[in-house]
Amino acid sequence: MNRRDFLMTSAAMAALPKAGLATGAQTILTAEALTQQILPEDYAGPTRVLGFNGGVPGPELRVRQGGTLNLRLQNNLDQGATVHWHGIRLNNAMDGVPMMTQDLVPPGDSFDYSFVAKDAGTYWYHSHYLSHEQVARGLMGPLIIEESIPPDVDHDLFAVLADWRLAEDGQLTEDFGNRHDIAHAGRMGNYAKVFLPDVTLQVGERVRLRLINAAVDRVFPVILKGLQGKIVALDGMPIAAPRDYDLPVLAPAQRVDIIADVTGPVELEMDHRMGAYPLGGLPVSGSVTPRSAAIQALPANDLPIPEEVSQDLTMTMMGGAMGGAHGGDNIWALNDISDMQPEPFARFERGETARIRLVNGTRWPHGIHLHGHHFYELAVDGSLGDFRDTSLVNPGQTQDILCVFDNPGRWMMHCHMLSHHVGGMTTWVEVA
Ligand code: C2O
Ligand code: CU
Repeated sequence: MNRRDFLMTSAAMAALPKAGLATGAQTILTAEALTQQILPEDYAGPTRVLGFNGGVPGPELRVRQGGTLNLRLQNNLDQGATVHWHGIRLNNAMDGVPMMTQDLVPPGDSFDYSFVAKDAGTYWYHSHYLSHEQVARGLMGPLIIEESIPPDVDHDLFAVLADWRLAEDGQLTEDFGNRHDIAHAGRMGNYAKVFLPDVTLQVGERVRLRLINAAVDRVFPVILKGLQGKIVALDGMPIAAPRDYDLPVLAPAQRVDIIADVTGPVELEMDHRMGAYPLGGLPVSGSVTPRSAAIQALPANDLPIPEEVSQDLTMTMMGGAMGGAHGGDNIWALNDISDMQPEPFARFERGETARIRLVNGTRWPHGIHLHGHHFYELAVDGSLGDFRDTSLVNPGQTQDILCVFDNPGRWMMHCHMLSHHVGGMTTWVEVA
C-alpha cells in the first residue's frame, strides 16, 4: 500500500468506535471531579480538576462532515452544567446555554444533544454554566469535524492551550470571579501548557496541528518551533489560500489550523513579555523524505453569501479598570447595558445581512463571540476578510463584522474572556 491508500484505510477505520464516535451512536460525556497531573511531577502532585470522561481536556470528539453527533451529558458534578459546542452552526435547542436554550442539567441528571456536523474544521466544547469557573477547572475538550477527503498529512493533532492559577500545593486557587481579575485582563494563570496527543514524529512528516485556545481569559501568541508550514483555517473555517505565519495569536476560544512539515523536535512556546514560555511539544525520532507537494487550501465549507446590509449596528465595549463610566450595572457593558436582559441587542429576519461595528472603548482586549453563526471580519476598505466566530478587538481598536443571520433562534453574543462575560459583557440576538 502506498501512503495514500494507507491514509484512506486509517480514515475509514477512524469511523469505528475507537475514535469515540460512529455516526448515529451515542457518546456519553460524563462531567466529574477528578485529579490529574497538571504541573510537572517535581513541582507538586496531581491537581483537583473537573473533566469529561476522566481527563482534561475531555475526549477528542470526531465525526465526518455531514454526520450526526449524538452526545449525552451525564452530570456527575455537585452543581449544574450544560455543554456548548463552540463554533458549530447548529440547531438553537442544542446550543447549550442554560436559561436560554435549555434548562440547567442538575447534578446526577443527563441531557441528550444531537446535531449535524455541517462544517468541517476544528471546534471545541466547554461548559456554559459558571463558565469562568467550570472552564478554568477543566470542563472543555476538542471537537473535530473531518473533511470528506482529509488533507494529505501523517498526523492530525489537536493542541489545546490552557492556563492555570495554582497555589504552591498544585491546587487551583479558589479566587474565581474576583472583581480585580474581572475588571482587568481576567483570571490569568501562573502556569500555562499545551495538551497534545502522545505521538512521536519523524523529521520530514507532514502534520496538521489544530490549535485551540481553551484558556478562560488569556490571549496566546504562539511560537512554533520545529515546523515549517502555513495557516489553513481560522475558527474552523478554511481560508481561501494557505497563509504564512510568524506568530499566530489566539484569543480565548479561537482556533488556528496549521499544516506543516516537521523540521525538528516540535516545541510550542508562548511569546511573553518575560521571554518565551515553554508550553509543551512533541519528540521526533528518525526521518522520512518530505513531501514535495505544496500545502493546499482545505475544501471550502458551504458559507452563506452576504446580501445588501439591512441593519448597520454598533456594539461598543465599555467599562473595566481605567475604563470610565457607563450606564450598565456590572463591571463591563455593551452599549451601556450589562448582562443578559429581556430585550436582545438586535432582532433579525432569517437570512438578513447585518454589519456590526465592534468598538473597543476600554483599556483591555476583548474577544467577541457570536453563537450559532460565523461572520466575516471586514477590512478597512469594507472587503470581506476571515470568516470567524470570535473576533479579537484590541484596546482602542474598531472591527467591523458582517454576518448573515440565517440560523433561527436566540443566540448569545459575548466576550469570550470568560471573566468579562461574567462581569457583564454579554448580550444576545434573536433571529426569527
Ligand atoms: Cu465558547 Cu458562549 O461560548
Ligand atoms: Cu472582554
